[in-house]
Amino acid sequence: MTRVFSGVKPTGHLTLGNYLGAMRRWAAVDQHRSDALFCVVDLHALTVDHDPARVRRLSRQAASLLLAAGLDPELCTVFVQSHVDEHARLSYVLECVATDGEMRRMIQYKEKAARERERGGSVRLSLLTYPVLMAADILAYGTDEVPVGDDQTQHVELARDLAVRFNQRYGHTFVVPRATGPAVAARVMNLQDPTSKMGKSEDTGPGIVYLLDEPDVVRKKVMRAVTDSGRDVVYDREERAGLANLLEILAACTGGDPAELAGGYDSYGALKKDTAEAVVETLRPVRERHKELCADPGYVEGVLEDGAGKARAMARPTVDAAYRGIGLLPPA
Ligand code: TYM
Repeated sequence: MTRVFSGVKPTGHLTLGNYLGAMRRWAAVDQHRSDALFCVVDLHALTVDHDPARVRRLSRQAASLLLAAGLDPELCTVFVQSHVDEHARLSYVLECVATDGEMRRMIQYKEKAARERERGGSVRLSLLTYPVLMAADILAYGTDEVPVGDDQTQHVELARDLAVRFNQRYGHTFVVPRATGPAVAARVMNLQDPTSKMGKSEDTGPGIVYLLDEPDVVRKKVMRAVTDSGRDVVYDREERAGLANLLEILAACTGGDPAELAGGYDSYGALKKDTAEAVVETLRPVRERHKELCADPGYVEGVLEDGAGKARAMARPTVDAAYRGIGLLPPA
């Protein structure tokens, strides 16, 4: 059976981008047709300036949002990265296969490091090695497919390269994974700045729809989305980025095609109104289920405990094989 692995990082409240680009498909498709693991990657949240209590809070919230989005622990494994030591164990071994140059070429590293420096902060070494830990997440489980949004494909490519390199040098150990993405909304853009991604870690609140935003807040954010001074509604990602983003969001929420949907509108106002309602309806069941789960924290904890146990058992044989392959002496 196809093995699927993916994760979310608890660095901020989860967004419509996370949902449309990744989580929705995990729940609707991946968990039903594959042997899937979904992980709250809390170790990754320590790579930038962080508040420990906030990371813990966001990790719990992310886990409960994964379940609220429809992940079913009867069908898939849901767990927290730091509960399974194999991730960190394998990450070190892969650091001995990856190169410094490879890390410095990563787009997300360049962007995030620049942002940290602009803020006057220093860049954590773990930010540089972030993609190696991500490769460890993926390779530890013999993953075939990694369902992600557009922004993660370069990292998955690196995981592929490291798997191939390790296998060539030290004997066949890892499955070589590949990224899969959604047909639309692979990169949901910020509503206030449609040239940049709707990212949970950025501080531009009005441009970001959070999964737990109240319906009226969602409506306000979508109605105030930046578009352009044109009048006709056309789908053109290059020239009309704001409009294209709204059409993609609407398409993702309603199952339509962005270019075809454009033909049905002759005003921006009507498009925004329909998009706002489509987003509200798409997020409604997630918010409602999340509220129920908040009333039952013991259930979420139980799911995470079971998930960590299952994940550990799945990862250990591969990580042990990598240790042996690279030359480490097995314990007696
Ligand atoms: P993260 O937490 O930033 O995002 C989680 C998932 O949501 C997708 N996504 C988006 N898709 C479309 N439009 C957007 N605006 C948008 N924003 C986020 C991401 O592509 C991702 O699929 N490095 C990863 C977490 C990670 C991981 C892994 C993923 C760590 N280890 C192993 C897969 C496999 C990250 O920061 O995702």
